[in-house]
Amino acid sequence: MTDEETKFAGGVAVITGAGSGIGAGLARRAGEIGMTVVVTDINADSAEKVAGEIRDAGGKAEAMVVDVSQPAELDRLAEEVFARHGAVRLLVNNAGIETLGFVWEIPAERWEATLNINLHGMIHGVRAFVPKMIESGQECWIGNLASIGSFGIMPTQTAYMLTKHAAQSFSECLFLEMQVKGLPIHVSSIIPGSVKTGIFNPEHGGGESDFGSQQRKIMHQMMYAYGMELPEAARVIFAGLARGDFWVSTQPQMTADLIAGRVAFLQEQATPALTPETRQLLGVD
Ligand SMILES: NC(=O)c1ccc[n+]([C@@H]2O[C@H](COP(=O)([O-])OP(=O)(O)OC[C@H]3O[C@@H](n4cnc5c(N)ncnc54)[C@H](O)[C@@H]3O)[C@@H](O)[C@H]2O)c1
Repeated sequence: MTDEETKFAGGVAVITGAGSGIGAGLARRAGEIGMTVVVTDINADSAEKVAGEIRDAGGKAEAMVVDVSQPAELDRLAEEVFARHGAVRLLVNNAGIETLGFVWEIPAERWEATLNINLHGMIHGVRAFVPKMIESGQECWIGNLASIGSFGIMPTQTAYMLTKHAAQSFSECLFLEMQVKGLPIHVSSIIPGSVKTGIFNPEHGGGESDFGSQQRKIMHQMMYAYGMELPEAARVIFAGLARGDFWVSTQPQMTADLIAGRVAFLQEQATPALTPETRQLLGVD
């Protein structure tokens, strides 16, 4: 038995935004390991497709439509999953969207959606599930999706970056709250570097400006030129979760480089400055 199977086989995994990308990769991996996987997404067809793939491969999976931007839907999810499947061993707050463009050009609805999905979805996932995890008295795991963006600064990705900075501090505080209460609940900050997914697909741009759409295309190309394959990322993430690591990076060197840059910036209390790479990417000058 692998470390992952020892920790997770036979348990229940709930993953948000699991109809595609990293969430889908993690759902498939959870199925391989022998977990019962609750594949949730706002998109019913994609959640059902992933759950079907897991079942076809001999695993156990159920699809549920959940919009993480609605706190009540996360309450309903927790109620239904604990009632139907018993204690949840792993919750991954994964659903997230990218938003590109200048702060003042992003429509109000898109701002709301970015904060509600990326940040409030994670907060209310924890709020809805943790009391039931505590009640189960069992060892549990929570993985929250941060990003290498949690440690960097990128103009025109402001909406996204601020949610990921917040996600990182949320997970750090949550980890400590488990220590304060002496609870057997592991908290991990999952930090993808670049993983090939549909996050920059044009249809996910809702209301972005022409500049935002153009940046989206460039980011998509960069992701597919340099990104990690999904199954590999899912394996790396699950191995980190099984070890109970707080820091779970798909590309640890990328994370380390971003953190080093951030630490230097903060230590020097430097004035924010555009790097040559950023100037080129954004077509400054
Ligand atoms: N791909 C990367 O390189 C990368 C890098 C850093 C962080 N991340 C983070 O990983 C997570 C997953 O991103 P991805 O790259 O797999 O993106 P993706 O677009 O491929 O998948 C996101 C999934 O979330 C779902 N979703 C969107 N809004 C939702 C809502 N309101 N409720 C429920 N589900 C919703 C989408 O339908 C989709 O299936 C995000 O939190 C993202 O910020 C990804």
